[in-house]
Amino acid sequence: MKVTVVGAGNVGATCAQAVAEKGIVKEVVLVDIKDGLAEGKSLDLWQTAPINYYDTRLIGSTNDYSKTADSEVVVITSGVPRKPGMSRDDLISINAGIVKSVTENVIKYSPNAKIIIVSNPLDVMTYCAYLTAKKSKNEVFGMAGILDTARYRAFLAEELDVNPKDIQALLMGGHGDTMVPLPRYTTVSGIPVTELIDADKLDAIIDRTKKGGGELVNLMGTSAWYAPGSAAAQMVEAIVLDQKRIFPCCAYLEGEYGLNDIYIGVPVKLGKNGIEQIIEVNLNDDEKALLEGSAKSVKDVMTVLDNMNLFE
Ligand code: LAC
Repeated sequence: MKVTVVGAGNVGATCAQAVAEKGIVKEVVLVDIKDGLAEGKSLDLWQTAPINYYDTRLIGSTNDYSKTADSEVVVITSGVPRKPGMSRDDLISINAGIVKSVTENVIKYSPNAKIIIVSNPLDVMTYCAYLTAKKSKNEVFGMAGILDTARYRAFLAEELDVNPKDIQALLMGGHGDTMVPLPRYTTVSGIPVTELIDADKLDAIIDRTKKGGGELVNLMGTSAWYAPGSAAAQMVEAIVLDQKRIFPCCAYLEGEYGLNDIYIGVPVKLGKNGIEQIIEVNLNDDEKALLEGSAKSVKDVMTVLDNMNLFE
């Protein structure tokens, strides 16, 4: 089985590494537009195989998509990352064209691939790939919720001084500052988190989670890669091993949660067919209002995409 990762920057290379180290596929193909970059990174990664004990073959390619033919899953990380002071939405004018042309190349050689978008602005870039690929909505989706809940769970583990493995959480909405962490659906080994933490501390963690990507951009001068790459690899694993995992992912909604014609983060079941189910949990009025607010900001960015007239 073959998995392709497009974009050999920090996120793409980290994702390729994480997929390879899991030892779940025969081959990971890394593609980049920059001459030699994907070949170099995949060669370097392949040389970790004897050290880290895996046997996934890593192949690099400078823009030759024939090497990606018949991939089971393709992760698209292409595009420019944020610099300090930029929002994810500021990237659309550059990244929409890139995501469109990459998706066209991917579909040409792997018409049956499940496509995971990581490029920002995430929700709208996933929509852009969906419009380009003209595939079932179940086969085109985005990575954001696993990353955002991981940040939320890591902050909670630190504050509560508990093992991060024991924190379960749900987070919905767009991959931006309007994302909606859901304390009512957050537990520590089944114990509602609200029983373990003061409301003001929880509010501070929710706020930090929403701005979690920006915190890292400010620290590093560019956007994060370890957690984003690992999160995308966890989605790959759920698909290639048909794990039926329940994750928050960016999915196309047709009436679920009262939302239509939008890609946004919701809980889904992820297996060999891609998104096998969208799970509708009960939201109270406050949670619904937050989700609707987040959907509105995603729709605003969709309007920017529409105005680019890429799909006429
Ligand atoms: C982040 C970028 C990948 O949240 O969107 O770090």
